[in-house]
Amino acid sequence: MAAQEQTRDVTMEKITSLAKRRGFVFQSSEIYGGQAGAWDYGPLGIELKNRIQRFWWKEMTQLHDDIVGLDAAILMHPRTWEASGHVENFTDPLVDCKKCKQRFRADLIPEDKLAKKECPECGGELTDTRKFNLMFKTHIGPVDDGTGLIYLRPETAQVIYVNYKNIVQSNRMKIPFGIAQVGKAFRNEIVTKNFIFRTCEFEQMEMQYFVKPGDDEKFFDYWRGQRWAYFEKLGVRMDKLRWHQHGKDELAHYAKDAYDIEYEFPMGFKELEGVHNRTDFDLKRHQEYSGKDLQYIDQDNGNERYVPYIIETSAGLTRQLLMILCDAYEEEKVADKGNDDDWRTVMKFHPELAPITVAVLPLMKKDGLAELAQEIRSELKHDYATDYDQSGAIGRRYRRQDEAGTPYCVTIDYDTKENGTVTVRDRDSMEQERVHKDELSAYIRNKIRNYKRS
Ligand code: GAP
Repeated sequence: MAAQEQTRDVTMEKITSLAKRRGFVFQSSEIYGGQAGAWDYGPLGIELKNRIQRFWWKEMTQLHDDIVGLDAAILMHPRTWEASGHVENFTDPLVDCKKCKQRFRADLIPEDKLAKKECPECGGELTDTRKFNLMFKTHIGPVDDGTGLIYLRPETAQVIYVNYKNIVQSNRMKIPFGIAQVGKAFRNEIVTKNFIFRTCEFEQMEMQYFVKPGDDEKFFDYWRGQRWAYFEKLGVRMDKLRWHQHGKDELAHYAKDAYDIEYEFPMGFKELEGVHNRTDFDLKRHQEYSGKDLQYIDQDNGNERYVPYIIETSAGLTRQLLMILCDAYEEEKVADKGNDDDWRTVMKFHPELAPITVAVLPLMKKDGLAELAQEIRSELKHDYATDYDQSGAIGRRYRRQDEAGTPYCVTIDYDTKENGTVTVRDRDSMEQERVHKDELSAYIRNKIRNYKRS
């Protein structure tokens, strides 16, 4: 019942609208009517994306001694994609409606309609199913005569495989070890609804872990455990996550076993990231197509030679950002000045992820409070991402920061002039504490370290 309602449901419309209103995500080329499948990350969006990326990078490299990083080019030799199987197999089954001219992914059409070749939108006749390759093609060089064919990479994984020997040799890596990379990937997706969930241009955070054949199942289980624990550290609501094991018909052409971590988005449980046992498929294929020996030589075991197996953890950075937006979003009823139907929208980001960590707000612009607030901000900005806001009533300024997900608001008032103390408002509890300005930075650091979402 509305009168007793304390929270409201999150919908994709609400997330999209807040993302635009507060500068997280904008539609690409909006003034030209928008470009399907592409999105732009605004001032708060890029901060959030960078923080998620850093959190993942720290988790995978700094906290795992045996993983190193790589940042390789998007453009690769086209043979890469023949070897990887993408030229042949990276396809979606498509059908077109002869009447309304819409295009559909055949695997998303209800079975009975597909069997009758009936359009799910207008009832018109559908064409036969045909394979549609998802890779974007372009050409390199001055003449477009087909000889300079090149692809935009559809996954970051392959750049790691083709560099694996370089890294073993230059960094003296010993199996088991991993290589991590974050970067753009491109897919000519036909269905791009649900905001930034599935786009044509997106970013991946992938880690490929090289193991001895026979150790693959052990490390597959290990990495499933590690990836689950990552989301606990990220402060996500764990009851919204679940595992999905790929059935035989779902497995990618390279995989022996695969599990997705799914998140309960507003449109239901959907894939967030995957853990795949890719066996020695990729390295063997690159060995065959390049003619180079990609065996690992185990110097600690009598120079035993083998092509390593690979366990892959493959996450979408932009998809994780959407998950974080959905997970953080809350509409809460707040008893404010006797108004029983007062609500606030608050983004409960983990403080390590919040685009702004501290907002500094002078109670008044006059009497030297603004100058004092600027001084305090200047001190804090060496340690934290800060914002400064002096316009409007203080309550409205708190609400603006709640929507941006700022965990701490520091208010400068007349007592600050008298005794050097400020108030720190906690975003989640809305409680305020007085702290001396000289202890502010350490106080906030401590709050971040001990943060638990209520
Ligand atoms: N290297 C293996 C690989 O790319 P995938 O399941 O195709 O596996 C991995 O993709 C992750 O990349 C997905 O779980 C998802 O988070 C993200 N992803 C894939 N396609 C995407 C798209 N079109 N838009 C946004 N994210 C996507």
